[in-house]
Amino acid sequence: MKLKDRVALITGAGSGMGRASAILFSKEGARVAVADLDERNGQETVRLVQKEKGEAFFIQTDVSKTVDAEKMIKATVDKYGTLNILFNNAGIPMSFTPVEEVKEELWDRIMDVNVKAIFLASKFAVPIMKKQGGGVILITASISGVRPRPGLSAYSTSKAAAIMLTKALAIEFAPYKIRVNAINPVAAETPMLAHFIASGGAKGDQFESGRKRFVDTVPLGRLATAEDIAYMALFLASDEASLITGASFDVDGGRGI
Ligand SMILES: NC(=O)c1ccc[n+]([C@@H]2O[C@H](COP(=O)([O-])OP(=O)(O)OC[C@H]3O[C@@H](n4cnc5c(N)ncnc54)[C@H](O)[C@@H]3O)[C@@H](O)[C@H]2O)c1
Repeated sequence: MKLKDRVALITGAGSGMGRASAILFSKEGARVAVADLDERNGQETVRLVQKEKGEAFFIQTDVSKTVDAEKMIKATVDKYGTLNILFNNAGIPMSFTPVEEVKEELWDRIMDVNVKAIFLASKFAVPIMKKQGGGVILITASISGVRPRPGLSAYSTSKAAAIMLTKALAIEFAPYKIRVNAINPVAAETPMLAHFIASGGAKGDQFESGRKRFVDTVPLGRLATAEDIAYMALFLASDEASLITGASFDVDGGRGI
C-alpha cells in the first residue's frame, strides 16, 4: 500500500478527479477528508470509499473562503490527528467566451477558486506539515495553463498561476521536506466537461460536437479520465516521488507538445 497510515485532504472530492483520487488513495491505505461545496456529492464520495472498506469523512467547504479553508484543515486534524497530503483539486471552469464578454465577476471567482484557494489551504496546512517534519501538497492545474485555447482567458490564466504557485510553494517549503507538485490534465471526461463547452452545461448534440472538438486536439486520441489523474496524484503523493518537487506533470495525451 503506497499511502499506508497517511491522512489526505482532497478538495473538490465530491466529483470527477477528486472523487477518483479519494477512492484510490483510500484503497492505498490513506484516511481521506472529502472537502467540497456540494454536500450531497461529497457524502456520496464518502459512501463509495466506505463501500470499499476505506475511511473517509465529509467537510462542507468553499475553498475560496479563509474561514472555510482554516476549518477544513482543523476538521481533518481533529478527526485523524494529522495531515500528510493536501490535494488542492477543486476548480471551476469557464465556457468559451471572448475577452470582451467576460464579466469581471467571473474573472474574480475563477481566480478565487482556482488560485487563491491554493494559497489559503497551504497557509493553514503548512504549519502542521512543518511540525511533523514533512508533507505533500498537490495541485490540479491544467494543460491550458501551459498551452491556452482561445476563449478561456480567465481559466488558462488561473491555471498558469497555479503552476507558478506550485513552484513558489515548493522552493519555500523544500527545507521543511514539504513537496509541492501540480498535475496538468487535458480536457477530461468529468461533469466539468459540459461546462467548458457551454455556459450552464452542454447537452445532446451540442455536447457531442464540443467533445469531439476537444478529442481532435489530443494526439493520443482520447480525453483524460478521472482515474488517469488519480494515478498521477497517487504517484506524486507516495514516497516513490520523494525527490520530486516544484514540477507540473502533463497528463494530456500529448496536447501540450
Ligand atoms: N474536466 C476537465 O476537462 C479539466 C481539465 C483540466 C483541469 N481540470 C481541473 O481539474 C480539477 C477537478 O475538476 P473535475 O474535472 O474533476 O471537475 P468536477 O466539476 O467533476 O469536480 C469539481 C468539484 O469541485 C467542487 N468545487 C467547485 N468549487 C468549489 C469551491 N469553491 N469549494 C469547494 N469545492 C468546490 C465542485 O462542487 C465539484 O465537486 C479542477 O481544478 C479543474 O479545473 C479539469
